Amino acid sequence: MFRRAIKRRTLIALVVVTTFVSAWPSPLDPRTSPVAPTHAQVEAAVREAYDRFKNETAGKNADYIPYLASVDPKLFGIAIVTTDNRSLTEGDVNYSFSIQSISKVFSQALAIDELGADKVFEKVGSEPTGRAFNSVLAVADMPSHTGNPYVNAGAIATVSLISARNPDEKWNKILGFYSRFAGEKLSLIDQVYKSEAATNTGNKALSMLLAKYDRIYADPFESVDVYTKQCSVGVNVTQLARMGATLANNGKNPATGEQVIKAEDVPYILSTMTMAGLYDGSGGWAWHVGIPAKSGVGGGIVAVVPGKGAIAVFAPPLDEAGNSVKAQKVIEYVARKLNYNLFSPRSVGLKN
Ligand code: DON
Repeated sequence: MFRRAIKRRTLIALVVVTTFVSAWPSPLDPRTSPVAPTHAQVEAAVREAYDRFKNETAGKNADYIPYLASVDPKLFGIAIVTTDNRSLTEGDVNYSFSIQSISKVFSQALAIDELGADKVFEKVGSEPTGRAFNSVLAVADMPSHTGNPYVNAGAIATVSLISARNPDEKWNKILGFYSRFAGEKLSLIDQVYKSEAATNTGNKALSMLLAKYDRIYADPFESVDVYTKQCSVGVNVTQLARMGATLANNGKNPATGEQVIKAEDVPYILSTMTMAGLYDGSGGWAWHVGIPAKSGVGGGIVAVVPGKGAIAVFAPPLDEAGNSVKAQKVIEYVARKLNYNLFSPRSVGLKN
């Protein structure tokens, strides 16, 4: 009788302890880096960065896509989403801007998901070009011709690798895949698509040059058209930060819990972001900031901090390389404050 009462009490205690432990994120929660900064630290860094750079006016909107020239250059938004799905925003967070080249990360992810990383490396590669993102010379000069999935030529080749019975099916597959990263249904900004489709002769030329070298794997102009649509997908900063946070979280969307890509595929993507995410500005970015990031001429940049989360910033004026001036400054500031630089032993908690 007495022993049974003790057993019952032990059982109740066990149930209470297990419930408490599983409901409370432990320091060993696999979704959270043990050295992730606190919410208060993240909040202070973001607010400070916003105030410090809100009046920065350097740079110029992209104008080779006519629509982008008409976007208000004062728009400015910041969002951070962490791997344990906390989010923090500041500024113009509801404005939907075109994802542009940032899309290239997620099409690379889709190609890797379908074909495996080795095949994508063989068919496209991951070498920095040291040239502008739309360079014709890079295609002619580089042994791989495609360079990497983030210059226009490599991105068009990547799109051509994705399997589909027709371009519409491919486009819907890409849009659906991006939406799973964002945790929300994304859609095309039709005006951006029309504006770019009417002026993208350079990308068509790149696709024909790739065909000459046998480095495009579907109809060249159809591939350019799907590529142009993927660049015209609209995102706000929170959606973009969530897309990055899914990469930071081993390929699992922290908001929906969906495993969007395999965890083992994430390092391939982050390594390309490090080598080529800011085009010919990538070396300087690695030197000063030290986190994988990707820019787009729409004015967005997303930076991924593995195990911790992602920061997305939108501000249209660009530097010479095509990277948002303000977004670079904000991310650099926040990354320094929060010890995000992956090349620093401090980023994994090693103290002086
Ligand atoms: O193909 C283009 O030129 C654009 N749709 C995308 C370029 C881009 O975003 C380069 N980014 N910095």
